[in-house]
Amino acid sequence: MANGTKYFIGNWKMFGIPSSYKIIDRVNGYFSKDKKNNGKYKVIFAPPFTLLQVFSNKYKKKKIDISAQNCFYKDNFGAHTGNVSSFMLKKIGINYIILGHSENRALGETDSILENKVSIAVKNNFNIIFCIGENKKDKKNKKTLNVLKKQISKVLKKKYNFKKIIIAYEPIWSIGSGKVPSPNELKKTIIFLKDFIRRKFRLSYQPKLLYGGSVDKNIIDIFKSIKELDGFLVGGASKSSKNFIDIIKNFYK
Ligand code: PGA
Repeated sequence: MANGTKYFIGNWKMFGIPSSYKIIDRVNGYFSKDKKNNGKYKVIFAPPFTLLQVFSNKYKKKKIDISAQNCFYKDNFGAHTGNVSSFMLKKIGINYIILGHSENRALGETDSILENKVSIAVKNNFNIIFCIGENKKDKKNKKTLNVLKKQISKVLKKKYNFKKIIIAYEPIWSIGSGKVPSPNELKKTIIFLKDFIRRKFRLSYQPKLLYGGSVDKNIIDIFKSIKELDGFLVGGASKSSKNFIDIIKNFYK
């Protein structure tokens, strides 16, 4: 919901060792004491697989949530060397999962693979952070909205509970590049996507839409005016507690 809880999600990608919990601890310290919060926003960190079990136990009773960054496209157990199923993640207490990140799509994660991953994650009762985004060429050829519509239509289904699906709009050209869409451009895309999702899946409520791509404590200012945004998926800047806390502070300043 546009005026509901905002999400600040840190995606660590291939970063983090056991002592990196200190970053999350500091953010949790700020988040728990922030008197202005009062349910206004939610903080989630997505560390790599290696840290999930320890961190999930550590933050079980804390306000912060821990998310996985991916899972395999088949469930339960099986002969799939090096892979982890959503069932296995659920069993260690994980309730959030990022799926469809462009870095995984670039390695061959197709819409049909994602259709399976999302369906299994739904079955396991996960909250899903589903990433979509256009590349530079799509943008140049004015294909952005078509690409986004296709990424949504090929994977999501009307029978899903969209209160448990958060869409993260992450233009590929913006990830890690320091480039971001103009507030006007972003606002238009977010409004378009919310409208499209609401109508396509016949929702009686607004779906949740996040922005991701080069979000940091400075750039966050320009997104404040976009009331339709439900939060941010933060990569690079989530590796520092100071940067991450400053993003939240500056957003509410
Ligand atoms: P970035 O990454 O903030 O480093 O651009 C965002 C993401 O890939 O989720």
